[in-house]
Parts: sequence; C-alpha cells; structure tokens
Amino acid sequence: MSQQTTAAGDAAKDTVTLIDNATGTRYELPVYEGTAGPRVVDIGKLYGETGMFTYDPGYSSTGSCRSAITYIDGEEGILMHRGYPIEQLAESSDFMEVCYLLLHGELPKGKEKTDFSHSITYHSMVHEQITNFFRGFRRDAHPMAIMCGVVGALSAFYHDSTDIRDEHQRTVASHRLIAKMPTIAAMAYKYSVGQPFIYPRNDLDYAANFLHQMFAVPCEEYKINPVLARAMDRIFILHADHEQNASTSTVRLAGSSGANPFACIAAGIASLWGPAHGGANEAVVKMLEEIGDESRMADYLRRAKDRDDPFRLMGFGHRVYKNYDPRAMVMRETCHEVLAELGLENEPMLKMAMKLEKVALEDEYFIEKKLYPNVDFYSGIILRAMGFPTSMFTVLFAVARTVGWIAQWKEMIEEPGQRIGRPRQLYTGATQRDYVPVEQRG
Ligand code: SDX
Repeated sequence: MSQQTTAAGDAAKDTVTLIDNATGTRYELPVYEGTAGPRVVDIGKLYGETGMFTYDPGYSSTGSCRSAITYIDGEEGILMHRGYPIEQLAESSDFMEVCYLLLHGELPKGKEKTDFSHSITYHSMVHEQITNFFRGFRRDAHPMAIMCGVVGALSAFYHDSTDIRDEHQRTVASHRLIAKMPTIAAMAYKYSVGQPFIYPRNDLDYAANFLHQMFAVPCEEYKINPVLARAMDRIFILHADHEQNASTSTVRLAGSSGANPFACIAAGIASLWGPAHGGANEAVVKMLEEIGDESRMADYLRRAKDRDDPFRLMGFGHRVYKNYDPRAMVMRETCHEVLAELGLENEPMLKMAMKLEKVALEDEYFIEKKLYPNVDFYSGIILRAMGFPTSMFTVLFAVARTVGWIAQWKEMIEEPGQRIGRPRQLYTGATQRDYVPVEQRG
C-alpha cells in the first residue's frame, strides 16, 4: 500500500486490517500516531472502498479532527493546554495569558502579552445600538437565551471582520468576541435586574472588569475584591477549552461550512446550554437546593443509580474523565478560598456538596462506573457565593469557553484541506413506497 498521509502531511505509522466476514474481503486502513494519546484509524476512504459507513452516534470512539490545542487523558485525569498542565496554568498564569496560549500555541513574551491584553481591553465596548436588542427581551428571559440572540447578531455590526479567509479579519473577530462576551454577559444580568448597563473600564484587567460591569452601580464606587477577582480569573482559566466537547464540536461543524465566527460562537453557546454540558453548573446548585439536607441525600443517590429514573447526580461523571476531573480539584480549592474570604466557610450548601462528594465516591455504583466530580460540581457554589444568580452560571462558562471555541475554529479554518463536515447515518426508516392521495388513505 502506498504511503498514506493526512491532508496535513501526517504519515501513516502502520495499518490495521478490516475483514468483511460477509465477503472475506480485507481492507488495509492507515493508522496515524499523534504526540500523545490514542492512535487513530483513518476511515476517510472506508465508504469508497467498502460501501459501509462507521457507526458511533455519541462519537465515543471517533476523532473528528487533528488538534494541537488541548490534550486530555481521561484515565489519568490529565488536562493540558499546548502542553502546560491545567494545575500549573491555574496556579501561575492568568486568563489573558491562557487566551494567548490557546490562540498562538506559546505563552506570550512581555510585549506580546501587553499588546494582546491591550487589544482585548480596547475591544470590550459594544456598538451602542446593541443595547436596543436587550429591550426586546422580557426582563425574566434566561440570560443564555439573550446570549444566543445577541452574540448571533454581532455579525450585523462587525461585518468588517467576517471574511474568514482573511487572517487579519479572523484575528479582529477573535479579539472582538473574547473582549465583548463579558460585556454582553454583564448587560444580560443588568437588564434582568433592572439596573443600568455599566460600561467596561480600560484600567481594569479582564476578570475585574467583568465583576465591575456585573456588580457596580452608578450611585457609588465599586471596590474590586482582589481575592474574588483572582478567583474569577482562575474560573475563566479552568473553563477556557476542553478538546472536542459538544459545544466545541458544534462550533467546528458550523465553521466548516464557512459561517462567520459570530454565528459559530452563537451555535456553541446554544449547545453549551444543555444540562448534560455547560448547564450542569446551574443544575448542580438546583439539585443541592432540592436535596435540601443530608437526611435526603441517600434517596437522591438511590435515584441516581436507578436506570429507570432519569435523575442523574449533576456535576458527576464525564464522557472522557474516568478519574477526577483535574479542574474539579482546583475548583474545590478555589471554593474554600472564596467562601473563607466571604466568611461563609460554614455555608450549608458547601458542606452538603462535600458530604455528597464523599458519599458518592465511596459508593460501589460510582466507583464501578468511574463517576467523579467534574468541573461543574463546585463552580456553582463559588459563583453563588460571589453573588451571581444561578441563571448566570452557564453564561460565565460561555464567556470563558469563547477563547477555546475561537482557537479551535481558527485551527480548523487554517487546517490544510479543510472540508465541510457532513456525517452519514444508519437508515432505519421506511423503504420506498408510492404516494397515496388523501382520499385513498382510508
Ligand atoms: C461538561 O465533554 C466535555 O469535555 C464537557 C466539559 C467541558 O469542559 O466542555 O467537561 C463540561 O459538560 C462536564 C459534564 C457536566 N454534566 C454533568 O455533570 C451532568 C451529569 N453527568 C452525566 O449526564 C454524564 O456523566 C455525562 C453527560 C457528563 C457523560 O455522559 P456519557 O459519557 O454519555 O456517559 P453515560 O451517560 O454513558 O454514563 C455511563 C454510565 C451510565 O450508566 P449505564 O447506562 O452504563 O448503566 O454512567 C451513568 C449512566 O447512567 N452515569 C451516571 C451519571 N453519569 C453517568 N449516573 C448517575 N449520575 C451521573 N451523573
């Protein structure tokens, strides 16, 4: 077999042989090896050679792309961005650095960092007419609905950065999205509570600026609590990117058709909203509120283990992690820091979450199914203590994940041989039949 390579030039390391037992035909499929993680079998020519599709509805065994941005080892509980472990980035870096790292592949040098931060800061305002969108929503509209609508409409205002084939326009659109997401998120919150919008300030860093836009009012000076600002920055880092999760795959698929980046990010926001994905942080707090006290915990654990009961222990389990989500460990430490800073160490919800975590981790079902706390288990408790309403939790996830979505979108657009994504199916519907006029349908 001639040397097989991917469109990007990866050479096949070896092959696997597929034998169709129905016909005895043997097919040689190229195998590629990355720098870490499982090897992949290239099935791109499978249909052409065999007349068969593969079948993997949840994509549990499917690599949809080649990527150099984020690496996850679910068995070992490892998460790295461009090779840097998430624990080190959360401890020593800041969100602007992580944004630069995800977008460009390296930690920024001094001037690179100041120039990037400056660009984000000076793109944080939105066109003044965008404020009119908010007045069309009911005050009780879920802020994620507002985010889907307003972010999707950004291309109507920033059409000078929608030509995805122009590298400069891609960069401007990327910076606009990273910079304006916190502004739009804070506007969604202010609109819901009937307070005036607070403009971003160029003298504040990203996290502090967001807290200021969320909680300041024109009537008095808002003092930034540095412990809370640092916690916010770290929460953004922990949510920044996570390989080919549902919302990132949505952004990639939307972008593969050539859709503009604003529309693609709006699609990612919509996917993130689901309770099985980014909506889990809101669902964790609602679950803890519903459990109410430790005496009812056993019944909820029983329900979580009952296959006939749709209840799942929110904030637990993960498609990839079959060990602790490393983000959950950092989030738990941050949770203790924030609650201590706010004098809430005895917050009942935190105590119940820790008890629930302990009981679940000692339970045979959770051990056998390798269900551990994920990034969403503690984040909601922190955000609630910081004053965010539960309806804003997934919005914050979207604010942070925008850089990951953009970095992955950019990588896809720049991939040699990039094509529109178009999966196939296992058809189980009616075979051909002839049309029957309504008067003959009985
Ligand atoms: C995020 O993909 C990402 O990277 C996502 C994310 C990111 O950063 O982008 O990490 C963010 O979405 C984190 C996950 C947040 N979601 C939740 O906390 C919701 C609760 N978790 C579950 O809904 C579930 O664990 C998923 C959706 C996260 C994963 O589902 P999978 O991979 O499809 O796993 P599964 O449903 O096949 O579960 C395997 C078994 C099943 O039991 P059996 O059918 O084998 O008997 O484990 C059970 C499930 O019933 N199970 C749970 C459970 N999660 C899985 N049982 C009780 N409680 C749970 N939370």
